[in-house]
Amino acid sequence: NAEADLAGRHVVVSAGGTREPLDPVRYLGNRSSGKQGYALARTAAARGARVTLVSANAALPDPAGVDVVHVGTAVQLREAVLKAAADADAVVMAAAVADFRPSAYAPGKIKKRDDKADPTITLVRNPDILAELSADRARPGQVVVGFAAETDDVLANGRTKLERKGCDLLVVNEVGERKTFGSEENEAVVLGADGSETPVPYGPKEALADVVWDLVGARLR
Ligand code: C5P
Repeated sequence: NAEADLAGRHVVVSAGGTREPLDPVRYLGNRSSGKQGYALARTAAARGARVTLVSANAALPDPAGVDVVHVGTAVQLREAVLKAAADADAVVMAAAVADFRPSAYAPGKIKKRDDKADPTITLVRNPDILAELSADRARPGQVVVGFAAETDDVLANGRTKLERKGCDLLVVNEVGERKTFGSEENEAVVLGADGSETPVPYGPKEALADVVWDLVGARLR
């Protein structure tokens, strides 16, 4: 895709994994490296788009020619994505957003003490940003894309998730040994709300990113 088929478009990509703090030194996190989201941001920029990358805790350099907003938690990621989405043609939620966060933040480090019972962590639900973006489109025709990592019944679970979230496209990954988390490669099926199924063979995360932008571009035209 050498031609600038996304020129004049503003796209928002979220990447990485949120961290939900427990106390000043601890958090609940996940294994997302951010590589797929960064690949999406780089390829969109290469295809001429203006790109806002909302990055949660990815240990990766800011891609050239991309506006990067760094965030930590799910609540911060929501705020940054909704702000950037206001004038966006497409939003791709590649970040691994924590479904839950600790119900309370301890301002001092939680200590182990022999005279006290072991602590319990209580969790509360985080907002579902993808569902919210899909339900309240910032502009008509805005294309919303989600990701799902599944371990079994990948297609059936993906189809259910796409309907529940209300997005236009859902990239479904099978979580496995050599793919998805931390890997340079990925293998996926992109499900469309129109019933379409686009398999993407095992290969670099850039190749999957280009398929996503092909499908987004077709829906923008
Ligand atoms: O529900 P699940 O976490 O499997 O959904 C994954 C998709 O939903 C990803 O696109 C992720 O970015 C998005 N998500 C979100 N807000 C959440 C949880 C997930 O936007 N609280």
